[in-house]
Amino acid sequence: MPDLILALDVTEKKKALAIAEACAPHIDAIKVGYPLALAAGLSIAGDLKKTGLPLIADFKVADIPNTNQLICDQVFLAGFSAIICQGFCGMDSVKACVASARTHHGECYVVAEMSHPGGKEFFSGGIAEQIAANAVIAGADGIIAPATRPDRVAVLRGFVGDKKILSPGVGTQGGSVDSIAELVDGIIVGRSIYDAPDPAAAAQSYAAARRRQKR
Ligand code: C5P
Repeated sequence: MPDLILALDVTEKKKALAIAEACAPHIDAIKVGYPLALAAGLSIAGDLKKTGLPLIADFKVADIPNTNQLICDQVFLAGFSAIICQGFCGMDSVKACVASARTHHGECYVVAEMSHPGGKEFFSGGIAEQIAANAVIAGADGIIAPATRPDRVAVLRGFVGDKKILSPGVGTQGGSVDSIAELVDGIIVGRSIYDAPDPAAAAQSYAAARRRQKR
């Protein structure tokens, strides 16, 4: 059964914390990206830690190795348990993120392919496959691959073996739990939960849907 990960892209700190607390019993991790981190500061990790859930920093880190390492160190010191980086900057840049994760006993995930329509422009044609293979060689914990294109996730699974695949794009972007759950280790859902009239009920129904799947 894949984890259910809430993408908490809410820019009001109070609202974000209320949604996190309400959804916590139904989810396995919280993903924080630039929208919330820029609005509330990195210290939001300390506030969200009260849920007891792992916190994934989705900063899609994409710089030279030294800068990547400095960024990741700050993320882990703030209390996050995992970092998401981009793979297109090369193996050395990914390795720097992995090294920081190891130092701080955290995890590192590499974006292999984006989930939105434009994600096909540059990641197709073998690039995503190469990024996925590099993520394995660099020692990353897994990759990010699009729930909007299960066929692509199946291809990328062939490159990462038992490494984890976390998959955004379920709900608002058009991906479905039924078509992706058996291929991945984590399903990332944002707007379809936090914009729902009752986010906790929406989280509960996604949790139930992925429970019906085998993986
Ligand atoms: O609201 P929605 O469910 O579409 O949110 C998806 C989340 O996953 C957002 O935080 C988005 O930035 C992130 N993401 C994505 N596609 C990727 C990588 C991350 O949608 N390839």
